[in-house]
Amino acid sequence: MDHPLTEIRHLKQHIGQTVALRGWVRNARTSKTRFIDLRDGSGFVQCVVGAAEADPESYELAGRLTQEAAILLEGKVQQHPRTGEPEILATKVTLVGDSVDYPITPKEHGTAFLMENRHLWLRSKRQWAILRVRHTIAKAIRDFFDGDGFTLLDAPILTPSACEGTSNLFGTQYFDEGMAFLSQSGQLYQEPGLAAFGKTYCFGPTFRAEKSKTRRHLTEFWMVEPEMAFAHLEDVMVLGERLTKFIIQRVLEGRREELAILERDLAPLETTLNATFDRMTYTEAVTRLKELGSDINWGEDFGNDDETILMNATDRPLWVHRFPKSFKAFYMEPDPQDPKLALGADLLAPEGYGEVIGGGERASSLQYLLDQIAHEGLERADYEWYLDVRKYGSVPHAGFGLGLERAVAWICKLPHVRETAPYPRMMGTIRP
Ligand code: 4AD
Ligand code: MG
Repeated sequence: MDHPLTEIRHLKQHIGQTVALRGWVRNARTSKTRFIDLRDGSGFVQCVVGAAEADPESYELAGRLTQEAAILLEGKVQQHPRTGEPEILATKVTLVGDSVDYPITPKEHGTAFLMENRHLWLRSKRQWAILRVRHTIAKAIRDFFDGDGFTLLDAPILTPSACEGTSNLFGTQYFDEGMAFLSQSGQLYQEPGLAAFGKTYCFGPTFRAEKSKTRRHLTEFWMVEPEMAFAHLEDVMVLGERLTKFIIQRVLEGRREELAILERDLAPLETTLNATFDRMTYTEAVTRLKELGSDINWGEDFGNDDETILMNATDRPLWVHRFPKSFKAFYMEPDPQDPKLALGADLLAPEGYGEVIGGGERASSLQYLLDQIAHEGLERADYEWYLDVRKYGSVPHAGFGLGLERAVAWICKLPHVRETAPYPRMMGTIRP
């Protein structure tokens, strides 16, 4: 290499200079002049290989490059006369690794085929854009909590008991201790942390053996779970709203190119950024749903369709709070105004997306939790450590979980969560 190596993302700083790039051929077109669409993971650039500037071997090689061949390319950076974007006038092209019959061609492919080839599909422009938005959201989440006085308290993945009901647990034999389960949520492990740190969060993979095939459900997904001492339902809604806006702000600041690739309409995101989120009780939401044509009855959980109907009708997120206790988790604080209700709150995203956050205030009474554990048929012995939070300095506390993939799907406006994870796990999908 005779010239300084750089990355496509830095090309604007090199206009007029000769540089070296390393990357893969998205597409190569051959006429008298040869064109290479090059990508290097940091961006995309068009390279022009003409017989006048390039040496004869390079010119010849450029004429037989195939899709996804890896190359080293040297050339002069210039501005495209029409778009103003950098392009490269190549002087030298070297083959690093060839690529024969790359399976994902520019033609349309079915989703099943693309999912089987997920490890290659990652290279496509759209997947690149989505996963870079995911990265930015994950980083924004960490920065938000780190900057807000929360201590990171990693929760275990192998756990002895259920947090979100026993019907969707993945189990595995754990030595002589009996069954262990892949964690559905780190929440129960955050609660003891409060008395040590005041405000904590965990952010990691969680698992649900969901036997449903929907556009919102994965069996393995990432969740961030903040938990606050001396906090109530109201604090959950305030924190969740601040977090959501912080995430959107970061994506709008740093991922314009990716959102443009995805053809994401930015107006609804900007509305969310500037809006005060709507709020409604569950009971009000049921009335609204009936007006919108749903056949839901009071006491039933929202189905996917209900969330879609409710959120198609609005351009900003909606907090639904105070749900019937009957379908919510055992740990929720009952509503002092109406013991049939639990002090939970879900944030539903607009444009039909539905739930992205679920949380609420936690029961702080030992006796109430003991009754709940018995009522749900859970083993008290598995929860003794959790109950200790209520024995030694019990305080009102609250928190929530935000699903990373749901947030990415909404912010990128994707039809399905499967594209939001590098290697999605769903019912029927374990490879690659
Ligand atoms: O509403 P969920 O089940 O709440 C909990 O797990 C609480 N323990 C969280 C807490 O309070 N610390 O899940 C929280 C969020 C949902 O709002 C959704 O965004 C996401 O996790 N989620 C899923 N995402 C993808 N696939 C699934 N199967 C999901 N289940 C939940
Ligand atoms: Mg939920």
